[in-house]
Amino acid sequence: MMKRFTIADLAAWKKAGKRWAMLTSYDSVTASVFDGAGVPVLLVGDSAGNNFLGHENTIPVTLEEMVSLARAVVNGSKEALVVADFPFGSYEKSESQALETGIRFLKEAKVHAVKLEGGVRVVEQVKALVKYGIPVMGHLGMTPQSVNAFGGFKVQGRDSQGDAILADAKALEAAGCFAIVLELVPAELAERITRELSIPTIGIGAGAKCDAQVLVWTDLMGLTPKPPKFVRAYRDLRSEMSAGVKEWLADVESGKFPSESESFN
Ligand code: KIV
Repeated sequence: MMKRFTIADLAAWKKAGKRWAMLTSYDSVTASVFDGAGVPVLLVGDSAGNNFLGHENTIPVTLEEMVSLARAVVNGSKEALVVADFPFGSYEKSESQALETGIRFLKEAKVHAVKLEGGVRVVEQVKALVKYGIPVMGHLGMTPQSVNAFGGFKVQGRDSQGDAILADAKALEAAGCFAIVLELVPAELAERITRELSIPTIGIGAGAKCDAQVLVWTDLMGLTPKPPKFVRAYRDLRSEMSAGVKEWLADVESGKFPSESESFN
């Protein structure tokens, strides 16, 4: 049996100054591709809302949907540590609500860790999860579940706001988080937080000085029509897939597909 990466590996990499990457996945097929390519951490992000389920943002995503997607990602991977996002409404009310959600993810989806958004305001939830053996990843900066409060997808932590994000990061570390995502924050702030914490920071739109980087896979592979500024698309899958489908359509219409060798006697 293959051994999966663990949160102990991530802690060791922070000490050794080794950089690493996390990538989203929402299904078993992409999970097996990314796992096979060597991505050590797969995030079943609630970004499934806008990148997989067709919603405008992450807010409508349900716990049922996330558990089902997370189970597929675990099933499709062999070596990656799989982290599942707590969807909006599944942890804010109380420690016991967060604990119930965490237990569902570990028992039903078999994930290895969970992620939730917020700083000081979710510290009690983080403590309860960690107490019962559920590793927690934090998420600060432009937290998409609060997009309505932020008035859009805007950089967070400019000027004096930065001190509050640093305080949130320290509170999450003290509560037992094993890593923290920093989304859409100034590079200088991300660098400072990375320097002051002993747990890894994972940046997205947070500059190059975080310990790790995360991207949404559909952005990375060029499936998103208008990706944000911080994205670098390494392939143009939208054009590739569209060209392949058009070729197949034409072959079906002209009778070139299927051939004799693709048929049965
Ligand atoms: O849901 C998600 O994919 C995320 C990443 C963008 C960090 O939270």
